[in-house]
Amino acid sequence: MEVWEAIKGRRSVRLFLDRPVEREHLEKLVEAAIWAPSGGNAQTWHFVVVTGPEQLRRIKTVSPGLLGDPPAVIAICQDLEEARRKGGELGASFLAPVDAAMAAQNILLAAHAAGLGTCVIASFHREAVARLLELPEGIEPILLISVGWPKEVPLPPPRRKDVLHYEVYGGQV
Ligand SMILES: Cc1cc2nc3c(=O)[nH]c(=O)nc-3n(C[C@H](O)[C@H](O)[C@H](O)COP(=O)(O)O)c2cc1C
Repeated sequence: MEVWEAIKGRRSVRLFLDRPVEREHLEKLVEAAIWAPSGGNAQTWHFVVVTGPEQLRRIKTVSPGLLGDPPAVIAICQDLEEARRKGGELGASFLAPVDAAMAAQNILLAAHAAGLGTCVIASFHREAVARLLELPEGIEPILLISVGWPKEVPLPPPRRKDVLHYEVYGGQV
């Protein structure tokens, strides 16, 4: 898929077919994620792929932002202790979440190119998800990505605002 088609064609999908996503697809998405850039090449991220119905159900109960019933969820996690060791406070508080977002966008675009639907979810109970995923001390979930075969793609896309400035804020050509 051409890159502009992927960027502009992707939508947040919240309704999924009752059809599993093959492991090969999910592994490809994580491969796409780890090819994202990371601050200082820290690569302090971890990805937990969840496809078990019971585990999905448990995650859903502590994630108000997780809509629909995706057959898979990828939890993008960060080892904040490693991030702090490598980049100090800036590494843990800024670079780590930014890196997670970079990885997330790669997942979204790779999924869209494969015909899969995704949605980023930030509205979830961090401690509860960390407990459910049995994350070791110091590793925290940053974003959840729901993944599945789209039942419905929301159209038209939300309008994008005009936010381009030249030279200075408010500057025009
Ligand atoms: C950081 C972040 C957090 C988000 N959290 C949620 C969420 O908790 N639940 C949800 O349904 N959508 C969530 N979204 C998806 C946005 O609502 C969606 O990207 C936005 O409405 C634009 O629509 P589009 O993705 O189809 O272009 C989130 C997106 C981002 C980038």
